[in-house]
Amino acid sequence: MNVYDSARMADVLRPLGYSPVDLPDNADMIILNTCHIRERAAEKVFSELGRLRQIREARKLEGKETLIAVAGCVAQAEGKELLARAPYVDLVLGPQTYHRLPEMVARIARAGGSVIDTDFPVESKFDLLPEEAAPQNEGNLTAFLTIQEGCDKFCSFCVVPYTRGAETSRPVASILAEAERLVASGVKEITLLGQNVNAFHGDWNGGTASLPELAALLHEKIPALKRLRYITSHPRDMEQALIDAHRDNPIFMPYLHLPVQSGSDKVLKAMNRGHTADEYREIISRLREARPDIALTSDFIVGHPGETDEDFEATMQLVRDVRFASAYSFKYSQRPGTPAAGQPFQVAEDVKEKRLAALQALLREQQDAFNASLVGTVQDVLVTGLGRKPGQLNGRSPYLQPVHFEGDPSQIGQIVKVRITAPFTNSLGGHLHEQEGTAI
Ligand code: 5AD
Ligand code: SF4
Repeated sequence: MNVYDSARMADVLRPLGYSPVDLPDNADMIILNTCHIRERAAEKVFSELGRLRQIREARKLEGKETLIAVAGCVAQAEGKELLARAPYVDLVLGPQTYHRLPEMVARIARAGGSVIDTDFPVESKFDLLPEEAAPQNEGNLTAFLTIQEGCDKFCSFCVVPYTRGAETSRPVASILAEAERLVASGVKEITLLGQNVNAFHGDWNGGTASLPELAALLHEKIPALKRLRYITSHPRDMEQALIDAHRDNPIFMPYLHLPVQSGSDKVLKAMNRGHTADEYREIISRLREARPDIALTSDFIVGHPGETDEDFEATMQLVRDVRFASAYSFKYSQRPGTPAAGQPFQVAEDVKEKRLAALQALLREQQDAFNASLVGTVQDVLVTGLGRKPGQLNGRSPYLQPVHFEGDPSQIGQIVKVRITAPFTNSLGGHLHEQEGTAI
């Protein structure tokens, strides 16, 4: 979501004459768009700020001014502390106020000093942003689109409900309009974004539409949109209608990120996740029934307060049972103001490290096995650009793996059939299945 937000900040600043540059040394304004989800993310902000200060000093010697802004969730959660610790920062703004950036920049130009805006304004930033194309990567063929923000679930460990605020959905009409603009500019694959994206319920036709309803509208109204994904989902909102849509809506990719965090019922309860490990297994089996080629990814936290060896073993067992195509796993990190941070029975650092290493080894094995299982299969690959070697093309599989194969540059932007021949650590090799008649 920060990638998406950064691009929208660039959109907002463009009418003021700003445009992106490659190096901070050449920038009149530098925005750090920050993440607060784990401790190290916030630490990185401070070390990065030290570096930016030096760049600013060097530029000053050349007679150039540099505005330094901190945006995102660290700004939201620790705005005042941040200004106290790094008073040379000009601008501090939370994720809900970036539509006000031009006004803030003008205020600094007029009055000098620092400006801080970490409100949760009543107006929606989405109504006030310019109608520009949102971020596009991989040769303008894929894009993110935020449809929902915030969270009301209050997991014990998580800062999101405090930094991103209450759960809200964007109206369907505004999402359709943005998707249409993206697709008109060449985008073939959209990833819908939200902290709780499957809790989406955007205004539509005097009522609201759910995520599967939104997906159906996107498919129906925008035929040139070929692929649809969504992140991040919560198991509690994985309703049957959404599971069915994985079978019925052809633009849904057979790949789902569904964080489970732990495989122990006791820890899941302490985390306030609202479901058991078996309920998660059951959701997965319904998904596999609806869409047999679906692959799953997840998030895991090891060392939540109170987690014993036995609880950790239950997580390992869940991973063995489900078999993931890839996953993110983290050591529990105490976040200020969250319920888990103050709980007794914090797990020792070396125990967390051991558990994380064991979990990651198992997940690595599963990822390798998944990649190897694709060898010999034919996959639809969205051709995103030229490869590194002459004659080679790069693409994206339904499972988000980069795929390298020989082909013609005219195929960039098409979806072609590729027979997978080689699994690498984080990518696949293959060759075009048929030369003709395969492009969609
Ligand atoms: N410590 C470690 N990992 C965390 N996550 C969220 N909060 C914490 C925390 N305090 C992880 C969860 C979530 C992902 C985005 O980050 O696994 O799904
Ligand atoms: Fe955080 Fe996700 Fe839990 Fe919301 S549902 S509190 S965003 S982990």
